[in-house]
Amino acid sequence: MTAQDPIYQTDALIAEDIDAYLEQHRNKTLLRFITCGSVDDGKSTLIGRLLYDSKMIFEDQFAALEADSKRVGTQGQEIDFALLVDGLAAEREQGITIDVAYRFFATEKRKFIVADTPGHEQYTRNMVTGASTADLAVILIDARKGVLTQTRRHSYLAHLLGIRNLVLAVNKMDLIGYDQAKYDAIVADYRAFAESIGIDAFTPMPISGFKGDNITSRSPNTPWYDGLTLMEHLESVAVDSEADRAKPFRMPVQWVNRPNLDFRGFSGLIASGTVKPGDAIRVLPSGKTSEITRIVTFDGDLEEAGAGQSVTLTFKDEVDCSRGDVIALAADPPQAADQFEATIVWMADEEMLPGRAYWLKLGTQTVSATVQAPKYQINVNTMEHLAAKTLELNAIGVANFTTDRPIVFEAYDDNRQLGGFILIDKFTNATVAAGMIHFSLRRAQNVHWQATDISREQRAGLMRQKPAVLWFTGLSGAGKSTIANLVEQKLARMNRHTFLLDGDNVRHGLNKDLGFTDADRVENIRRVGEVARLMTDAGLIVITAFISPFGAERELVRSMMAEGEFIEIFIDTSLADAEQRDVKGLYAKARSGQLKNFTGIDSPYEPPEHPELRIDTAVMTPDEAADLIIKRLIP
Ligand code: ADX
Repeated sequence: MTAQDPIYQTDALIAEDIDAYLEQHRNKTLLRFITCGSVDDGKSTLIGRLLYDSKMIFEDQFAALEADSKRVGTQGQEIDFALLVDGLAAEREQGITIDVAYRFFATEKRKFIVADTPGHEQYTRNMVTGASTADLAVILIDARKGVLTQTRRHSYLAHLLGIRNLVLAVNKMDLIGYDQAKYDAIVADYRAFAESIGIDAFTPMPISGFKGDNITSRSPNTPWYDGLTLMEHLESVAVDSEADRAKPFRMPVQWVNRPNLDFRGFSGLIASGTVKPGDAIRVLPSGKTSEITRIVTFDGDLEEAGAGQSVTLTFKDEVDCSRGDVIALAADPPQAADQFEATIVWMADEEMLPGRAYWLKLGTQTVSATVQAPKYQINVNTMEHLAAKTLELNAIGVANFTTDRPIVFEAYDDNRQLGGFILIDKFTNATVAAGMIHFSLRRAQNVHWQATDISREQRAGLMRQKPAVLWFTGLSGAGKSTIANLVEQKLARMNRHTFLLDGDNVRHGLNKDLGFTDADRVENIRRVGEVARLMTDAGLIVITAFISPFGAERELVRSMMAEGEFIEIFIDTSLADAEQRDVKGLYAKARSGQLKNFTGIDSPYEPPEHPELRIDTAVMTPDEAADLIIKRLIP
């Protein structure tokens, strides 16, 4: 994880600023909300108006604002509230909002955090970032334009991300002369769409952020509207943390607090439910039980704590518990599993690669996860299910995924903290997707590892050898198959039991459904890795000759093997040399455009950074190379 990652940046920002701010308003409930709309639906103006009307703007900011408005000269004599919110210079210049900006404000009744998320379609990622913790979403509509594709997209995402309170703010009413008929038509239009995607309730209101209609006081311009003002609604709507307190207790452990030998506490943010000293709890995934003795906070011990509070818990017994574990009600714990179905929102420029291992972060748990090809992709405009082999930037789909060890989870619909996750690219550390768990796959619960009576050690012992994988990697025509063949011959003469898996051959059988796209190559190597792993369990020395162009999959295979059994051998032949030999005539075809996605030409090859062996074919004959490899295997 890097500091450049927006998700972490915003989280860090919140953590620091919020503490000081919340201190002043400790006893008020907190409502988190997002505003979503297209570029000029007036989001920034609306937020600026809310801040202004709640008197959260200080004098000097106000003076600067007036000066700015004059300089930019957009709106005549009136103050341009958008300038208050559009913090970034670049945004101002382009006149658009491009990242999530969090604002804090408070009224007599409540405190608020608003995430201002941008409207551009390509910024789904920011919306997901802002929405995943929100209690409410304000969907802004320009009264002159009505329901747009963006409106549908944002509403769908807000619903998908579990926001149950939606406000349909029909903005810029002043520009349509406060026309009730037009307003009613927009609301009816939206209602039809909302019902089609399962949104059963939303709160419509006619407003003008610019003029201030129905923001903090009822507007004389809309006598036909008898609902609440936006501020009244924000102040009175039920917040999630109230509902979350009614659910069973769960707290993901952020860190173990151990200042000295006499104190050991487990710190975290309570995701749901309430907890009291004396409660019987269970630590997951281990399942160990104990009893709460104290609830420690900065302000002293508490008699009870609940969803949304950060606390440190102490146990009666010395139970193992560390970061990533979940403390739960002993009698009603969440499950742990390693195979799931989820909705995935893809947020990276590079498409999703089914079969590739990504880091999966769910709450405080981090595991390695592999996503399978999507079952379908969702067209957000029509809600149609489309066939898809992968997910591209901003695509939303449903897919199964597996993790390398069980994670403690709940369905996203039941618990956003324990059901929502992000995927991170292991090499670039960028957040590439957000996901929402539907359920664990039953096959994961019912398929257990069958312990066999003959162990892999016994099998290897009968063959009088130590199993291993000699994993060759390199360009097509580098000499992998030639050297691999020689190695196998020499090992056979030494009475070793071997098996050679070769790219061209495996692609005639096991992998004949795969081609040469990135996704297919990932799957090719994943399957070969699984086969090689089984063969080492059988006691064999496995030799594989595949281009295996991606570092990520070579590392995946390495992680599947027993310690020390994976030997990566880089057959290092320059592209020029491989192309000059061109044994199969494929380079010529690739150069002439007859063959697409050819490694080294229009498909990448990532050379290994730390292979166990590097064979430079320019200075060594295949026979010498084979001897060197065998010396590495059997010193
Ligand atoms: S890998 O990239 O998925 O590891 P693999 O080793 O199985 O590739 O297959 C590579 C062999 O397939 C090459 O040696 C070559 O004979 C053949 N081949 C056919 N098309 C391509 C292509 N587009 N790119 C690379 N190799 C290809």
